[in-house]
Amino acid sequence: MAPADADAPGAAAEPAGKGGVEVRLGSWDEMGAQARRIRFEVFVVEQGVPVEMEIDSTDPLCIHALAWLPTGPALGTGRLLPDGHIGRMAVAREARGLGVGSALLLSLMDAARRRGQREVELFSQVHAQPFYQRYGFVVAGAPFDDAGIDHIAMRAPL
Ligand SMILES: CC(C)(COP(=O)(O)OP(=O)(O)OC[C@H]1O[C@@H](n2cnc3c(N)ncnc32)[C@H](O)[C@@H]1OP(=O)(O)O)[C@@H](O)C(=O)NCCC(=O)NCCS
Repeated sequence: MAPADADAPGAAAEPAGKGGVEVRLGSWDEMGAQARRIRFEVFVVEQGVPVEMEIDSTDPLCIHALAWLPTGPALGTGRLLPDGHIGRMAVAREARGLGVGSALLLSLMDAARRRGQREVELFSQVHAQPFYQRYGFVVAGAPFDDAGIDHIAMRAPL
């Protein structure tokens, strides 16, 4: 169960507890408000991504993940596109290094596996490459710029 005082969506998906982190999966309707809040804080305010690049038309098509620590609001988010691409991984600055990003990533990989996908891919910010390598992702292309930030394609088998 998600913490009672958290801003959890009504229609829950599934817990994926890991080191006290609670993850739920759901639709954009259920999770968009909280995902948007975290993404705005991390990508727009902290990283300087233009706000018009942050929300795109694929959000309603994605499975979204939100993560909570035992108390307080959701602190992390990520999404899985229909084609197996994982993206918009964002953990509030004050919650980094506590396993939130790992729990989100593993839940999204599990969701892809359960719907029959054999592989997931993502565009990692170059600084986060070692984080994704921990979970089996390998580099699958040359670095490129997106929104002024260096990225690199990575893939992991499921
Ligand atoms: C990248 C991000 C999602 C990782 O989330 P997190 O909650 O801090 O990750 P975790 O706590 O699960 O980290 C798991 C391990 O990976 C390590 N790790 C996390 N981010 C790392 C990074 N950028 N580089 C190297 N190692 C990293 C952690 O130190 C931890 O190691 P430990 O188990 O030895 O302590 C988070 O730092 C973030 O949101 N950053 C800002 C937005 C961003 O860059 N998103 C990625 C877009 S591709």
